[in-house]
Amino acid sequence: MKVLVVGSGAREHAVTWLLSKSKIITSIYIAEGNAGTALLGRNLTGVSPLDAGAILAAIKEHQIDWVVVGPEAPCAEGVVDAIQEAGIPVFGPNQSAAQLESSKLYSKQFLKAHKIPTAAGIEFFSAGEFESYILSNRDKKMVIKKNGLAAGKGVLESSDTMELIDFGKNVLHDDSLLVEEFLEGWETSVFALTDGKDYKLLLPCADYKKANDGDIGPNTGGMGSVCPVPKVDGSLMKKIENDIVAPTFAGLEKDGIGYKGIVYFGIMVTKDGPKVLEYNIRFGDPEAQVLLPLIKTDFGEILKAIFEEKLGSLKIEFHKKAAVTVVVAADGYPGNYEKGIPVMPIEAPDENEAVIFHASTYFSSAKDVFTGGGRCFTVSGFGKDLKAAAANAYKHIDKVRFIGAWYRKDIGRKFYN
Ligand code: AMP
Ligand code: GLY
Repeated sequence: MKVLVVGSGAREHAVTWLLSKSKIITSIYIAEGNAGTALLGRNLTGVSPLDAGAILAAIKEHQIDWVVVGPEAPCAEGVVDAIQEAGIPVFGPNQSAAQLESSKLYSKQFLKAHKIPTAAGIEFFSAGEFESYILSNRDKKMVIKKNGLAAGKGVLESSDTMELIDFGKNVLHDDSLLVEEFLEGWETSVFALTDGKDYKLLLPCADYKKANDGDIGPNTGGMGSVCPVPKVDGSLMKKIENDIVAPTFAGLEKDGIGYKGIVYFGIMVTKDGPKVLEYNIRFGDPEAQVLLPLIKTDFGEILKAIFEEKLGSLKIEFHKKAAVTVVVAADGYPGNYEKGIPVMPIEAPDENEAVIFHASTYFSSAKDVFTGGGRCFTVSGFGKDLKAAAANAYKHIDKVRFIGAWYRKDIGRKFYN
């Protein structure tokens, strides 16, 4: 089978890496890919993930059998609809189902309609009503969420009335918003593959959103992740499945928006049980870099089962290991940073210990590698438990060298003694 992976980040490098191990996948194309995916397949430079016409032309030219879409934007922009109309099996939701992620108002309505536990939330479309609501709830900790996609920058948690009003009024210039009650608890990310009829749960993950050690500093796209999460034991996973996952898939079916792909449940475990913070319709990044390497079942066979709607009868096996990934970022990230910094040649680690995924890199014709974004690489370490996995990630991290490279030193640490 010939597969096209859409996207260019470390998540797509991890998808490509796992597909490269499949016995039934013969070639992999990546649109547009990065310097890491180029080692495993053929990068289609110039084929933008958002350009449905260019993607369809590439599918035709390279006689692609299956497409896997990594990021949310092509789903939200209708690229998946175009691929479906061309009759090509595609992993990822169409525009309508992508609203679960691309519209916070839509997903809150979905959660309420299907009685799935989540934070109470009220939607606002005008500054006047919003401001009087915040003023009448002075000093209460609340969360404001911009309705549309915002690459992690559309959420503010605060109890500072003026800060809430400023942030919200700014959002309301060009979008609607949701004000949510603040939930106390701890977070986990749960993933379920779906073929539109059945679902299969994968292992629970956790990511690190703050820039600095000790979970302080500004928010980022994620500075590291772990899998599995020891606190998400069998009974909690069962509760998450019964209270959240199963009703979500029943709701998707009822609303006629079931799809083939992955549902990502951002969950806050509160004293009243697990509640949904958000839905995403893609693998997390950097969760994919710990989740995917722990899948033992041939990923090509998994895709086949999804496209043939036989996921229900497929047994998905996992390696009995733990994984920790650490993001290597550019100097200045998540603020301003430079791109185009040369990267020293990277010696690949033994894959039993670690794998290095490129996040945003490119190469010149001379095959020299350069950084192309803020989060540049992720180093995934594996071991019998999270402590051993973290030790392996940090053992190999200095193989990634470029001027200004930095990373958190405590990924995984809070999960073991
Ligand atoms: P979201 O994009 O909706 O997942 O929000 C991003 C992050 O904001 C989450 O991962 C949480 O850390 C935090 N967050 C979102 N909603 C809430 C809430 N209702 N209570 C507490 N924290 C929240
Ligand atoms: N790691 C969070 C996300 O992918 O949204």
